[in-house]
Amino acid sequence: MKILVVGGGGREHTLVWKIAQSPKVGKIFAAPGNAGTAAIADNLNLRATDMEGLGKAATEKSVDLVVVGPEAPLASGVVDFLDKLGIPVFGPSKSATQIESSKVFARNLMEKYGIPCPKGATFSSYSKAREYLREQCLPVVIKADGLAAGKGVIIAGSLPEAERALSDIMEARIFGSAGDRVMIDEYISGREVSLIAFTDGRRVLPMVPACDYKKVGDGDHGPNTGGMGSYSPPGFFSTQMTQKVTKDILLPTVRAMAKEGLPYKGVLYAGLMIVDGEPMVLEFNARFGDPETQVILPLLKTDLVDILMAVVQDNLDRLKIDWSSQACVGVIMASGGYPGSYRTGFPIEGISRVDKDVLVFHAGTRLGSDGVVYTDGGRVLTVVGMGQGMAEAREKVYRNIPNICFEDCYYRKDIALREIDEIESKPSEGMKRQK
Ligand code: GLY
Repeated sequence: MKILVVGGGGREHTLVWKIAQSPKVGKIFAAPGNAGTAAIADNLNLRATDMEGLGKAATEKSVDLVVVGPEAPLASGVVDFLDKLGIPVFGPSKSATQIESSKVFARNLMEKYGIPCPKGATFSSYSKAREYLREQCLPVVIKADGLAAGKGVIIAGSLPEAERALSDIMEARIFGSAGDRVMIDEYISGREVSLIAFTDGRRVLPMVPACDYKKVGDGDHGPNTGGMGSYSPPGFFSTQMTQKVTKDILLPTVRAMAKEGLPYKGVLYAGLMIVDGEPMVLEFNARFGDPETQVILPLLKTDLVDILMAVVQDNLDRLKIDWSSQACVGVIMASGGYPGSYRTGFPIEGISRVDKDVLVFHAGTRLGSDGVVYTDGGRVLTVVGMGQGMAEAREKVYRNIPNICFEDCYYRKDIALREIDEIESKPSEGMKRQK
């Protein structure tokens, strides 16, 4: 088979890496890819949203399947376009992608079908939103309706902060038309987790759960980013909870989409908050998470291509997915200054010096004509380690990171630390028995 992966981030390098393990696959293309995908696929010089270019390339190269990674091409209708050309494509249609591209759409759907989510209200008028804001308890959550590269959700701890966020979105229009409407939600606190599932529009097969770290700094300080690290599986999220979320959230959502005339196929990502043992949906995404994918796919034992094809061919019910019982930790190496301004173009050294069982997924990297890999973005690499437990996986990652160096490199030092602290603070089985 020939497979084209659309996108050029860490998630897409991970997809290409996993697809390359399938004995069914002879050739992989990435559009545009990065220096990591270049080592195992042919990078095509195409933007992920260049529908015509993607259609032409897929046709000319007789591609058997296109896998769309990021939200922007999904929201702009790449899947519908390729589908019309008769090219098999993995991902939801443009109208089904609204579940991610419009938070108001997702909220209305959840309210209509009784899917648990925080209470909130929607506004298209700045003055009405401001009036409402003044009556709310703090902290409060302000959300731009549309896609905002992970920056459209602001948790405001004070009224001036909340008013500034509202004004930035609706008056200064920092997210453009994505801020035409805002949602003002109650703040809920609990344990945050991502449960991502494959779905063919009828059946839902969840992946292993994962947690990501959105803030740039240790201890969850500083501004939001696209994600600074992740781990899987979180100990607080049991198999029973996966079953509950599948039954009460993922399946009802897929069925609701079908009832609305928007059949949903591909990957459904539920960003959840577990409050007193009850899951609530903070957001839906229409794609694999980044950086969750970097710690989920290394744990997948089933051939990913079989799963992707089963989704495309509507026969996910014939499939059972097997997962490793290992733990996985991923740490992002970023360009200093990210998510603000940062410099790029620095040579990256030492990737080949990491241990054989440590994975390095590229994101913002570029292969120079001199054969050297250069930094080319805010998030540069995800270094991933697996182990029998979280402590082993984490130790592997942090022991290997210093082998890799580039100017201005920055990474968080506390990824998965809370998981280990929790494991260590629990009495061991032996001690429990002595009680
Ligand atoms: N990790 C958050 C996201 O993929 O949107």
